[in-house]
Amino acid sequence: MPETRIVILDALTYAGNLTTLSEDLADPRVRFYPGKIQDATVVEGILKAEGVTHLVNFAAESHNDRAMMEAGSFIQTDVYGVYVLLEACRKFKLSRFLHVSTDEVYGSIDQGDFSESSPIEPNTPYSASKAGGELQIRAAIKAHGIPAVVTRGGNTYGPYHFPEKLIPFFITRLIDGKRVPVYGDGSQVREWIHCEDHAGGILHALLHGKDGETYNVGDRNERRNMEVVKILLEETGRDESFIKAIPDPRRGAHDKRYSMTTEKLNALGWSPQKPFESSLRETVAWYKERQDWWRPLVATDDYRSFVEAFYGPSLGEDL
Ligand code: TYD
Repeated sequence: MPETRIVILDALTYAGNLTTLSEDLADPRVRFYPGKIQDATVVEGILKAEGVTHLVNFAAESHNDRAMMEAGSFIQTDVYGVYVLLEACRKFKLSRFLHVSTDEVYGSIDQGDFSESSPIEPNTPYSASKAGGELQIRAAIKAHGIPAVVTRGGNTYGPYHFPEKLIPFFITRLIDGKRVPVYGDGSQVREWIHCEDHAGGILHALLHGKDGETYNVGDRNERRNMEVVKILLEETGRDESFIKAIPDPRRGAHDKRYSMTTEKLNALGWSPQKPFESSLRETVAWYKERQDWWRPLVATDDYRSFVEAFYGPSLGEDL
């Protein structure tokens, strides 16, 4: 859609990074505004000035481990921020509101998979905040007829991923010859989807989804954490002595397994394209190549103090 214009509102929190967007910002069809979705004046000012028709909400506090330490900012962004966006959609009569959510709202499942009609049973402060945002949307659909669609994505990986989640955190540490903290025995199962596939699924739901519906966006690609870690060790030339087992519950509630069906979005003509193992190896190669991108991020005081506070002072440097 060459005529489409994109307007970005980004709070540029610790996990945001303008350099990631530098190529996109050079395109005259792209506009950037710094600011928070919780700020109704900013949100409404942009919708008015830019004549926005479709709003996609990617904004979220998203790291489970940070939410274990402090969940207030998660409620602010993931619940209150969604409410502000919904009110703005109502006021400006937007054609579509797409909200990017997570499979974590379902909670953990030992066997089988969740479908879009499974109950929402979040177990962590982070997933509860995302579920809270979704419930605001449900109510806005019912009460005000907001034309909203929700996507629930699986664990996402790929380039430009802030080095705090399992995959980018471990890759950057292993490149630096530091040990990596595996919670428990690493037998937890996550369903991984490449960021390009995840983005494609969101776009598909935006264009082809039905008002009021929720769509899972996953790759049906389940891996135990330890399987993922072994590939990362291999690609960085490290052995198992680089694994530091951290007793669970390091995290408190630690969901055992996420798994969901994706037939609903598949039926609209979408399917993921990137095979996991080769794409994960490509991701490691990207982090080796783009140290200019991630080194400044891991050198900040905020980053170092989070790692030290969460994993323990002696672990910050040499976990
Ligand atoms: P993460 O990437 O934080 O995503 P989520 O919590 O949303 O699933 O974690 C993925 C899995 O990796 C999860 O089971 C927790 C585990 N994990 C570790 O073992 N060590 C770590 O340092 C991190 C960040 C995660």
